[in-house]
Amino acid sequence: MSRRKLVVGNWKMNGMRAHLAEIEAIDRIADAHPAVEVGLCLPATLVMAASDKQGGAFIGGQDCHMNANGAHTGCLSAQMLVEAGATWVIVGHSERRQDQGETDAHIAAKALAARAAGLKVILCVGESLDVRDAGNAEAVVSAQLLASLPDGAAADWLAIAYEPIWAIGTGRIPTMEAVAMMHSALRAALAGRIGAEADKMRILYGGSMNGDNATELMAIADVDGGLVGGASLTAAKFEPVIAAAG
Ligand code: PGA
Repeated sequence: MSRRKLVVGNWKMNGMRAHLAEIEAIDRIADAHPAVEVGLCLPATLVMAASDKQGGAFIGGQDCHMNANGAHTGCLSAQMLVEAGATWVIVGHSERRQDQGETDAHIAAKALAARAAGLKVILCVGESLDVRDAGNAEAVVSAQLLASLPDGAAADWLAIAYEPIWAIGTGRIPTMEAVAMMHSALRAALAGRIGAEADKMRILYGGSMNGDNATELMAIADVDGGLVGGASLTAAKFEPVIAAAG
C-alpha cells in the first residue's frame, strides 16, 4: 500500500503577520514537491490571512471545540476555522491534553465535530517518558489511539500523529527501531477497529523531527510523514524535512 506522505508544520503559539512571507516561502517549497502533501497548522489569528493565497501548503488550525457554537469563552468551532479558510485541524495534541485537561472522549468528539464541518483531522497520540521507561509504550499508545478514534474514522479525512511527549521540543527522538515498532503496533490497532481502511490511513511521526533525522524516519515502512514543530517555523529548516518525504 503506497500512501502519499503528509508533512505538516505545527506552529503552536508562534507566528505574527510579519511571518506571512515565511509562509509564502513554505508554499513555494510545497509547490516544488508535489508528491508530498504539505500543510501548516497556524495560530487561529493567522489562518485567514494565510489561507488567502493560491496553492502551496494547506492551512489548518491547531484545535477546535466539540460544539458548533455557544457559551465557550475563548474557544473556536470547526465551522469558524472552515470559514477562516482552514481545511485541516489538529486534535489531541499532548500540549492540550496536558495544559487543557483534554480527555480521549473530548478528542474523539472534537474529531467528529471537525469532520461534520468538513475539516480533515490530525489526531495526536503519544506516551510520557515514564510509560516509555516502563517498557509498555506500544500497549498504552494503542489504547489511547482506540479511545480517541472517532466513529467512522477513514483515511480520506483522518491521519494519526504519533508524538512521544518526551521527544517534543527536546531534540531527543526514539530509536528508529522503536518508531518502527510503535507505528506498526498502531496500524495493527487500527486494523482491529477499521479493518482494511487501516492500510490507507497515514500515521505521522512527530517530536524533534528535523532536516537531520527526517530521511531516516520517513524511510520507515509505517511512517507516512511528519508533524513538525520547531523545524517548521522557517522555510530554511522545513525544506529538508519536506524534501525527505519525497
Ligand atoms: P517539535 O514539535 O517538532 O518542536 O518537537 C512537534 C509537535 O509538538 O507537534
